[in-house]
Amino acid sequence: MSSTAVPDQVVLVVDFGAQYAQLIARRVRELHVFSEIVPHTVTAAEVAERQPAAIVLSGGPKSVHVDGAPILDPGIYDLGIPLLGICYGAQLIAHQLGGHVGRSGKGEYGRSILSVADGSVSGLLGPDPAPEQTVWMSHFDGITDVPDGFVACASTPQAPVAVLESPARRIWGVQYHPEVGHTPGGMELLGRFLHDLAGCAPSWTMDSVIDSSIEAIKAQVGEGRAICGLSGGVDSAVAAALVHRAIGHRLTCVYVDTGLMRKGESDQVVETFQRHQGIELIHVRAADRFLERLSGITDPEEKRKTIGEVFIRVFEEAAGGIEEADFLVQGTLYPDVIESGTGEAAKIKSHHNVGGLPEDLQFDLVEPLRNLFKDEVRSVGSELGLPDEIVWRQPFPGPGLGVRIIGDVTAEKVAILQEADAIVREEISAAGLEREIWQAFAVLADIKSVGVMGDERTYARPIILRAVTSDDAMTADWARLPYELLETLSNRIINEVDGINRVVYDITSKPPGTIEWE
Ligand code: XMP
Repeated sequence: MSSTAVPDQVVLVVDFGAQYAQLIARRVRELHVFSEIVPHTVTAAEVAERQPAAIVLSGGPKSVHVDGAPILDPGIYDLGIPLLGICYGAQLIAHQLGGHVGRSGKGEYGRSILSVADGSVSGLLGPDPAPEQTVWMSHFDGITDVPDGFVACASTPQAPVAVLESPARRIWGVQYHPEVGHTPGGMELLGRFLHDLAGCAPSWTMDSVIDSSIEAIKAQVGEGRAICGLSGGVDSAVAAALVHRAIGHRLTCVYVDTGLMRKGESDQVVETFQRHQGIELIHVRAADRFLERLSGITDPEEKRKTIGEVFIRVFEEAAGGIEEADFLVQGTLYPDVIESGTGEAAKIKSHHNVGGLPEDLQFDLVEPLRNLFKDEVRSVGSELGLPDEIVWRQPFPGPGLGVRIIGDVTAEKVAILQEADAIVREEISAAGLEREIWQAFAVLADIKSVGVMGDERTYARPIILRAVTSDDAMTADWARLPYELLETLSNRIINEVDGINRVVYDITSKPPGTIEWE
């Protein structure tokens, strides 16, 4: 039995291999209808069994004319389930149902003007559409003939058929991308498809997510006991808060204080969970153990491995003391679920997180966030009363400050970095940039340079500032922080943190750099 609540009404987003499928799924949810992404190999029988309220075909990078181009199981078109094809999805509708997709010879990328056909009656475009609308295009091929029973309702300069529909077959298609912000009427169009044409009720709200998750957790755990490793991050925090709502004191959380957390972070976790939420919490103070094992280790991978190993051991010892726990709560998110199904990515760094750890422990998993995107998890966290500092916490690596101290890790270096990092967080927050910037932090270098403070020569370490913008951490750009902010950061860090006499700013994007230094 799963603790992941799935609402009765589901929209399936069929993924044809573009980055847009996730965005479409999120837009559908923003319109308060639950959505799930399925691979394009999904069969008509599988779809019939799921009985989705609607189907959306995503865009994709291929041409319908190339060998091996992904297609939809044709039986799906005959199920009578309302279906919307977007870009490649619209071309597939034309291609598979007897229309024609031509190679126009010219692609159309970016902003374009959609012209609505005179006298067009279109469910998708609404009762009184503006004759010309701005839309966002990204295609090379274009539909030239619609299948029998379909009408073409609009065009753009390079797409003779930019909107096609067959209300009788309950199939609609758009060549442009309604899911992107650059198409101003895009959300209205998706809303008309979902709510008006497909009849989906806008009932998927954060309240409904919380209620149904609690029911699902109760059903899974029954009278059993669960444990949850808290990392201080938003995912494990929200998962724990939800499970606590469902099973109360039968949840015990374990927080391993590695000593490599940011300043004040451990106190905040304990304060939030033990005092405010009333959750049973085992706070393991293991800083000495981590530092002892890390002594003398300078290689980044060896550091990561060591921290991971000590963490498992400490967690196991703490968990072993909890009576009869059969369930382990994990903060797995929907993007992890989707991504774990895709091909092999080259290993750049061995990641460590609480979720990935105790594989060999004998527990059933409780994963109440498996269906949610990060922004939805944050909303659930706020609804559950978690503080902003946790709900909006920037990503923080499992090995903590251990991978932000270049060279060997000592208690003295951790203390220096904690002070510098606290100043970075304070000033970024005071500048109101916290939510705009993906991550902003300090790194302690293992070199020294000469400086002068007062009349004294100094010979001390530099702090490297790192601040990046990103959508998903796969790529990142260095943040164009205002000079005044950089100046304040530099002054404060040098004046307030002993052992630092220089501050430098890292202006490397990812790639070629990574976000963290190790
Ligand atoms: P990199 O440095 O690879 O980091 O560009 C990408 C993102 O992942 C975070 N990160 C980690 N997160 N365990 C985690 O849970 C880890 O071991 C880990 N290492 C890096 C990093 O902060 C950035 O957001």
